[in-house]
Amino acid sequence: LNLAEKKVLFPCYCCIEAVSPFLDSNLCFYDVELPGFHIPIDELIDKISHEQISAIVVIDYFGQVESRLPELYEACKEYNVVLIEDCAQSLLSNGVGNFCHVATASLRKLMPCPDGGAFKINATDLKPIFKSVKMKRGVVNDIAALLIIIIDVLHLEELNLNRGLFEKIFPFLKRMKQKTRSVMKPSHFCERMLTRVNPDVICTARRERWLFWKDQLKTLDVKFAMPTLADNACPLGFPILFGSKNIRDNILKFMSKRGIHLKVHWPVPNFIPSGFTTPLKMADRSVTLPVFPELSWAKMKHISNLLKEVLNKVV
Ligand SMILES: Cc1ncc(COP(=O)(O)O)c(C=O)c1O
Repeated sequence: LNLAEKKVLFPCYCCIEAVSPFLDSNLCFYDVELPGFHIPIDELIDKISHEQISAIVVIDYFGQVESRLPELYEACKEYNVVLIEDCAQSLLSNGVGNFCHVATASLRKLMPCPDGGAFKINATDLKPIFKSVKMKRGVVNDIAALLIIIIDVLHLEELNLNRGLFEKIFPFLKRMKQKTRSVMKPSHFCERMLTRVNPDVICTARRERWLFWKDQLKTLDVKFAMPTLADNACPLGFPILFGSKNIRDNILKFMSKRGIHLKVHWPVPNFIPSGFTTPLKMADRSVTLPVFPELSWAKMKHISNLLKEVLNKVV
């Protein structure tokens, strides 16, 4: 793709995992608007018609697919720019991965899979490149997947163990991964799960929980970072913004003391240029409320009551 010479346009609001494959490229960041996480389609189209761009990456934030993506895709085709859609958060939304050259997805965020990723390649000239990639069965994946399942079953997720930490605790995992140096097949556990899940059931459960948060929080002093749920969207979570970092941090602490460990999407990767407000706002002032199907309505109500209680105290 000539990534080192020509520019790669990447959204300023991103996590380190999403951007890390591009760190050796000539990266240029573009702004993402709040609320709604809108992508500046006109600005991107203008850029690709005037500058040397090899690829544009777009992220479908919290399950939402940018409605003007087809326009950007048409322009990318015209100017020979590869459009990559990161569907890590939108895998189960309807119509994802249709208006791009290559779509990538992570299974574990929306499906009960411990690992695994997916590609969709729409550009016929890129298909042979991907077909030539040999996938190996890696025992390291099965070991890591088993650890993830154990953590899940024992409800140890509160310890916030992630793969990086695993690899620190069990350095042999990292060594094995580095040794393999090839694309690995997903674990046996992941393959098995994929034959059993019903995406429609997951999607309905997530949408119901998203609507619950919207209804419960509408009278509180919080802003919705993603105020609407499109008909085709299967949400990853319900991101909200508080008035200040101090309020947000107090709320995180209050909830954590009561066994509720809310996520923040995301800390700002340190190479994002200053001047973009969305990544900072999200890192400092947001939390993402969970919408995963296993979360019972009683627990949702409990979290909602706690949020109301703490907001009355700290705001
Ligand atoms: C938008 C986005 N892209 C890519 C990734 C990487 O996914 P994984 O860590 O499952 O490979 C993430 C993970 O948080 C993400 O949120």
